[in-house]
Amino acid sequence: MVGSIPKLYQEYRKRLEDVDMIERELLRTDNLEDWLERLNRKSDLIRKYYKQTEKEINTLINPILYGEKPLDDKTAKELYEGAYAYYENVMCDDVMESQMFVRLWEYYESQGDEFNERSCRCAFSNNAFLNVEGNLRKLAMEQADWVSSYMDRIDHLRRIHANDEDFFMDVKRVLGTLRSRYEMESSQFEPDISRMIACFNDMSKIRKYRSYFSDAEWESIEKPLQEVGADVCFMAVLHWNSVDEKIKEALGPTYPLGFIEQIKLPAEERDMKVYVGYIVYAFYTGLLKPEQTFTLLRAYSHSVENEYDFNAPNWFDQPAASRFGVITTTTKPMLEMIEAFNCDKAKKIRMKAELFYEIQTYIETIPRECKCKEYLDQALYHLLYDLIPFIDEDDMAIEFIDCMIISRQMATLIHTVMTAKLSETVLKALIAKRPEMFLEVLGIDDPDEVAEYTEFLKKLMYNAARCHDIGKILIANIVNTQIRRLSDMEYSYIKFHPKWSYEILMRNRNLQPYAEIALGHHRSFDGKSGYPMYFNNRKSKFRILIDLLTVCDCMDAATDVFGRNYTKGKTFESVMAEFSRSAGTHYNPEIVDFIVNNEELKTTLREMTSEAGRADRYFHIYRRYR
Ligand SMILES: [Fe+2]
Ligand SMILES: [Fe+2]
Repeated sequence: MVGSIPKLYQEYRKRLEDVDMIERELLRTDNLEDWLERLNRKSDLIRKYYKQTEKEINTLINPILYGEKPLDDKTAKELYEGAYAYYENVMCDDVMESQMFVRLWEYYESQGDEFNERSCRCAFSNNAFLNVEGNLRKLAMEQADWVSSYMDRIDHLRRIHANDEDFFMDVKRVLGTLRSRYEMESSQFEPDISRMIACFNDMSKIRKYRSYFSDAEWESIEKPLQEVGADVCFMAVLHWNSVDEKIKEALGPTYPLGFIEQIKLPAEERDMKVYVGYIVYAFYTGLLKPEQTFTLLRAYSHSVENEYDFNAPNWFDQPAASRFGVITTTTKPMLEMIEAFNCDKAKKIRMKAELFYEIQTYIETIPRECKCKEYLDQALYHLLYDLIPFIDEDDMAIEFIDCMIISRQMATLIHTVMTAKLSETVLKALIAKRPEMFLEVLGIDDPDEVAEYTEFLKKLMYNAARCHDIGKILIANIVNTQIRRLSDMEYSYIKFHPKWSYEILMRNRNLQPYAEIALGHHRSFDGKSGYPMYFNNRKSKFRILIDLLTVCDCMDAATDVFGRNYTKGKTFESVMAEFSRSAGTHYNPEIVDFIVNNEELKTTLREMTSEAGRADRYFHIYRRYR
């Protein structure tokens, strides 16, 4: 048991690293026996750490967080240092840390310590912005507004600080929060360019106060300003069709100017955002044809050789023109160009498939465990969101989704493969004995005809199960990787994942049938509980498949002896007993009864979910996808 908050954080990080290390070993191991030994070691370690950390958090942090123990200056300082160091090093959006900053700024406010209060509000916003949705993010916006009001009060900041050093630090923190707010705006799936420009204008107010800073200080203020300025132009051109006419007029002249400078540079020295931005701008304003734009973008993306260092401590210091940056930004415009080509459909499909093959091959080279995981989660989710509408065949789309899941979360891939196999097995047995249950999905009246649709139903069920948790990759750092109990707020955050899965799947025509099934997989059979509550699973024509997925999803999760963090997996029998107890409320009673009374099916499911049954399957997945 550690004695102090900073020590707790230090230990906590070390523990997470230990678990990561075994995961890396797992990926390298070829022999089943060694592999199993490591897998068990990983599970044991997670459970051990979970218990320790849980106890330490309960003693050292929770009493403060929930107001049972009053803060004093010393503890506040420790809490701040602990949470801040963790935030800076892990780049986390861990909700617990956000809650700590709230307690801290309340404390400093009550002490009349304006400097530390502002600092905690800044830290809170920067951290909570990484949340994608929910109340915390709303609160972060409010705090950022509060912080940004200080851009009109720089004179006040200068007055309250006795020395220049504190003044400079205060200003840097305020600017840092405005920058985070900008990044948050630009990380929206459909960013609002006017709001991004407003953030940039807020930051630019600092230019009025140039005389307050030394040359060196000013340089460190000016550089991020220029970066944000270039980014605004780039984002505007990428979303040209939804940009306001006035903004187009104002930004238009900046593109050719930047381009003329860029074209003189060798490829590896070019600023990707300025160079690519101009090419896309030229397409939208009719200066270039789609074929010409495509050729230029492709030539550029092939010319960039420098590799992204996924283990660098600061991912944001990477050169903009690294392969990762180029792929995440040029692929979508290239796909748009192909769609705009004047050629036959078959050729377009071929060209798109080629591009997707290239990206997948690249994504496969990204290490599973690396320093900038949280950033990668968001960047890859964005890539998925942007690219999935362009995929023509659903097998290819599933493959792409797999590739995304694998790149970030082996545990989720294993879970979706397991759930898909279980769902398929129960479905096959149900079709044979209870065909009438599938009439509604198929929109037919005669149960005798259901058997003819077996392949169709199997594919629908299997693919829906493979995609049902894709929304989780957005929160990969919360799901399955924590070694402590999730707070209520974190749990509420996880509840968004069916909605995110739905939003992704709805973006592709072929995947749309799976979207509703994924959306409903955490709703109860009676429609009275689960999430999201706005979705009425009882009215869905896919409800039998939703019910089936709900059962198989829980069957895998509850019996998993290796994958889950804190509990040792339950036996198949006890999980079946739980299904029976909640049949009619949480689970579809007809499905539960069907499994309970079908010995042959039970034997198969018991075997599939057993330790031995899992070991083989997991090992196979690890080897295939590492
Ligand atoms: Fe789920
Ligand atoms: Fe699931």
